[in-house]
Amino acid sequence: MDPDFVALRKDFPLLERKTYLNSGSYCALADSVKAAFDSYIDERLTVGANWDLWVMKNEAVRERMAMVLGAQPDEIAITASASAGINALASALDFTGRRNKIVVSDFEFPTNAQIWHAQERRGAKVVHARRAQDGYIPLEQFEELIDEETKLVAITHVCYLNGAKLDIPGIVRLAHARGAKVLVDCYQSVGALGFDVKALDVDFAVGGMLKYLLGTAGIGFLYARASLIADLIPTNTGWFAQADIGAMDISANRPSPTARRFEAGTPPVVNCYAAEAGLNYLLAIGRDAVEARVLALTGRCMDRLEEIGWPSVTPRRDERRGPTVAVPSRDAGALTKALMERGVVTSHRGGNIRAAFHFYNNDDDIEIFLGALTDLRSEFRG
Ligand SMILES: Cc1ncc(COP(=O)(O)O)c(C=O)c1O
Repeated sequence: MDPDFVALRKDFPLLERKTYLNSGSYCALADSVKAAFDSYIDERLTVGANWDLWVMKNEAVRERMAMVLGAQPDEIAITASASAGINALASALDFTGRRNKIVVSDFEFPTNAQIWHAQERRGAKVVHARRAQDGYIPLEQFEELIDEETKLVAITHVCYLNGAKLDIPGIVRLAHARGAKVLVDCYQSVGALGFDVKALDVDFAVGGMLKYLLGTAGIGFLYARASLIADLIPTNTGWFAQADIGAMDISANRPSPTARRFEAGTPPVVNCYAAEAGLNYLLAIGRDAVEARVLALTGRCMDRLEEIGWPSVTPRRDERRGPTVAVPSRDAGALTKALMERGVVTSHRGGNIRAAFHFYNNDDDIEIFLGALTDLRSEFRG
């Protein structure tokens, strides 16, 4: 049965107050996620410390994250952020040999370029796949850069600036043919669009729970393909990354045989409560239903933007875009503020305002957004 997208809006009280098009920054809070936060506080008040339960919560998040990504739980590390996952992976790579090149793209969220540039001190050579004239990055750019010296292609799935999706299957094919591995930052898509690590054949993936996964800040994940884990020994580590956490052995570093080796210290306990509840909500709706809904909403929004003469810079083809519709403006910061004054919550990056859709948005949200843009057009159109 199709999910009742009208009825489930009431699970997100914010939607009664705001036209909320900001899930690419932070999701709307579901009642069940608030209840999960509350139950953590109750636990603290009534039990104090409940480590057995808290470890189970961490494992529940790992299992659910594996379901979302089509992976095995042993291939998932639960981290404090996407950056923490990338750092742990980077620390396990050796850049002293001939294969020391990292290919990133102009579409990266800063952290997935900065961390790789930080490895230059360790011998890494970082190159950027550049945008073409039309603002996008053609596969040929990657074809030119990925070679026998490439260790890793570290790329975003959906660009946080313009909502464009990179050709992940094409890039993975090129990289694997030349012996390189692929890390995908799927933070701007996972939860809104399907992101199946096995179907896409990616080697590593990172993201976090505060956007389309309906959770909170302060918790993320790293997926690592099972067959690659044994050879990767992170130096960015800690006691929760050890094979036997309870051993308290200070004589050696004995990393977990699973992706838990990419974790570090005490898990983000309260965030696990929220992340578990958010993932439960999302999994109950189903990945395909969410993706179909998000693509229909974003497509309609882009068509309506064309109609009012203020076209977006996001690719129109479904397979080329994520859940964000980016609209260019003469002053994107001031436009975001003006929209906010009209109760429409968006964000802005790189000269565009970003309307980021999730399954809980509807056609009325699009019309209210478009109505506000029409009012503001003479002042702000790009
Ligand atoms: C694509 C992308 N990657 C990474 C991040 C940052 O991740 P974190 O702060 O969890 O390291 C963001 C945050 O907005 C993002 O949009």
